[in-house]
Amino acid sequence: MDTNSIVSKSLDKIDSAEQEIRQRTEEYRVLHEVARVLHNSQGLKKKLENTLKVLTQFKELEVEYKAGIFLADEEKRVLKLFSTIGNFTEEFLEKEQEIPYGNCLCGRAAISGEMIISESCFSDKRHENIFKDMTDHGHYIVPLKSQEKMIGVLFLYTDANPPWYVRSQEILLSIGGLIGDAIVSHRRGEQILENNKQLKELNELKNKFLGIASHDLRNPLYLIRSFSEILKDESVGAVNPKQKDLLLKIFNASNFMRALLENLLDISKIESGKIELSKKVQDLNSIVRQQVELSQLMADKKKINLQLDLEDLPPISFDQDAITQVIGNFIGNAIKFSPFNTKIIVTTENQIENIRFSVGDEGPGISEEDQKLLFKEFQTLSAKPTGGEKSTGLGLAITQKLIHLHSGQVGVESQLGKGSTFFFTLPLHWK
Ligand SMILES: Nc1ncnc2c1ncn2[C@@H]1O[C@H](COP(=O)(O)OP(=O)(O)O)[C@@H](O)[C@H]1O
Ligand SMILES: [Mg+2]
Repeated sequence: MDTNSIVSKSLDKIDSAEQEIRQRTEEYRVLHEVARVLHNSQGLKKKLENTLKVLTQFKELEVEYKAGIFLADEEKRVLKLFSTIGNFTEEFLEKEQEIPYGNCLCGRAAISGEMIISESCFSDKRHENIFKDMTDHGHYIVPLKSQEKMIGVLFLYTDANPPWYVRSQEILLSIGGLIGDAIVSHRRGEQILENNKQLKELNELKNKFLGIASHDLRNPLYLIRSFSEILKDESVGAVNPKQKDLLLKIFNASNFMRALLENLLDISKIESGKIELSKKVQDLNSIVRQQVELSQLMADKKKINLQLDLEDLPPISFDQDAITQVIGNFIGNAIKFSPFNTKIIVTTENQIENIRFSVGDEGPGISEEDQKLLFKEFQTLSAKPTGGEKSTGLGLAITQKLIHLHSGQVGVESQLGKGSTFFFTLPLHWK
């Protein structure tokens, strides 16, 4: 071999290496661009249209500015035309709205899940759908899949018998996967939005129902409660011991129902946004003292030692009724779930950013599993009342909602067998 031909061979090699690099760079650019438009475009139609545009500009493919995407309806086994770019005849757009699986090129790709390269619409027998002014052309038909599930089919137009791009199969299938995944994730997003909307509506309906039911039940219940009280107290005449016992049972049951109804009303009011806090700047410690005093009797019955450890606090803004209810619930729970002859400490602390209120008890403690459920509605957990008290499992749910309305936090520190400390914080400085 002479020097000249060695040089020319080397030049050829360099040429083809350069060509290879150019193609790879172009592939990388197109993949990158497809991923970008799928991610950034708003709405599925725009995502797919923009992707088609990027593909028609993919130089090595040499395709026309004319392409489209069918979405698969797996149940009906049809492909439905979803988006196109470029010029299509009216006849095409009408007839191709829906094509059955197995029909023509796209229907075949939908069944096999494999890409089809078709040289010419006239000589390729698989190209069954022929249109009036159709001129000879070839196709890339690309299945769009996501995790092996058929999502749709993409079709591109080329000249008849084009110089097929060597790595078209590999690259178009990857792009088909990207598009398939994007369609699935778009649908999931839509589904989540729809589900959320339905859940919100259902929750509103539930609150309305709760509100109406508890409101309408309240009056008759109050009648039962006060009449049974009058009868058992013998205000309207003597009753025998057996009757008295039954009346007491009616009275106790209606008391429990009253508490339950009040709680249900609270929840429906808070959740439907109908509760209006009337906040004012005041001293938390004095509310705490009052509540402890009110709870003293209950504590005495169980020989529970109720102690106070209150730090000096700056005045703070809160709704008195709401916070009184919360404090009452924490102290009430501590007494209710603690054994006789134990100690409960009620604490307030100034933590600069927040004020923290807490109630620590020597009760049964709460497992980590139960701690996750504590603040949800209707959770009566493994700790049971120790003195025959009633339990509805609504107190802490209401507590949490009320504290959140104050932009505060609630929580518990506890270990099974080692007592519990329930706390809430209220922010000192309102943003
Ligand atoms: N101090 C506590 N110690 C142990 N368990 C508790 C304590 N406070 C609450 N719990 C558990 O959390 C559940 C929910 O409390 P709550 O929502 O106030 O409802 P209720 O007091 O009506 O049972 C209680 O049934 C109890 O099992
Ligand atoms: Mg409670």
